[in-house]
Amino acid sequence: MELQQQLAQWATRVERNLDLYLLRETCIDPRLTDAMRYALLSGGKRIRPALVYMSSFLCGGTAEQADRAAAAIEAIHCYSLVHDDLPAMDDDELRRGRPTCHIAFDEATAILAGDALQCFAFELLSEPGGVEPERALQLIRILSRASGSHGMVMGQSFDLAHVGERLTLSQLQAMHAHKTGRLITASVMLGATAAGCQDRELLDALQRYGDAIGLAFQVQDDLLDIEGSTATLGKPQGSDQAQNKPTYPALLGIDGARAKLNQLHDEALNALKPFGIAAAPLAALAHFIVTRDH
Ligand code: IPE
Ligand code: IPE
Ligand code: MG
Ligand code: MG
Ligand code: MG
Repeated sequence: MELQQQLAQWATRVERNLDLYLLRETCIDPRLTDAMRYALLSGGKRIRPALVYMSSFLCGGTAEQADRAAAAIEAIHCYSLVHDDLPAMDDDELRRGRPTCHIAFDEATAILAGDALQCFAFELLSEPGGVEPERALQLIRILSRASGSHGMVMGQSFDLAHVGERLTLSQLQAMHAHKTGRLITASVMLGATAAGCQDRELLDALQRYGDAIGLAFQVQDDLLDIEGSTATLGKPQGSDQAQNKPTYPALLGIDGARAKLNQLHDEALNALKPFGIAAAPLAALAHFIVTRDH
């Protein structure tokens, strides 16, 4: 199956699940649940859920085993976008082609919707009826470490603390690996763990693949901020430059950033080599990540 068809298939599946899981939320204030739905079910490429499913399949798992982890990582990702766009952070007004959550609702609701989406993710992973308890605990640990002060939130903090500064290459790499890379690596590891993979060699290879595409994802995001268009991106082109954010193109130039992207693409493909044709979907996704236009 072509990658685009696979992505569409996983996106449909995770969106249907997110919709169902959200419908169970009881509410005394529909504004909060409306904002959560707005942030979750508003388009998006759904790359992270696709990685969960593909990695689970590579490890012999089923889609059912991966369902909650796929929904949980997307909930964390959407919460990170809602907060990233807030006036106190990147102060952006367009996301996925629509007004950002704090513009469509208000700032307090956007903050609270992000908070609630974060809890929602862990609630899903801890639910009985998903995978067995010991595996569920591993999933919770992977996602919590990748999201918080060991991962995305630390990267976001570093990003905001260094606006307008020229970072060293290793600082920039660490920032990108945290704010974006960790959740992408976590997607791959969640899939493998949901499938019950115990094979150290396979897990190490998946970790290397995830780290390479995770960093590549943000390098391409930085490039698209310069070379993309607001209409195609669905978010404001030039946001990084307007705020003087430290990025790969700012430090290495466009050609340098592109060379880094190619190097990371090679690293990702090398990590998959031992798995041959079985890893073809993950290889195709790596190619998509470094060539995507939005
Ligand atoms: C955007 O992520 C934020 C970054 C981590 C660079 P995506 O490009 O995956 O955003 P959606 O989910 O498709 O909107
Ligand atoms: C954000 O990086 C990474 C997140 C944790 C959300 P960016 O600030 O570059 O993401 P976009 O460009 O707004 O999507
Ligand atoms: Mg940001
Ligand atoms: Mg941003
Ligand atoms: Mg960006």
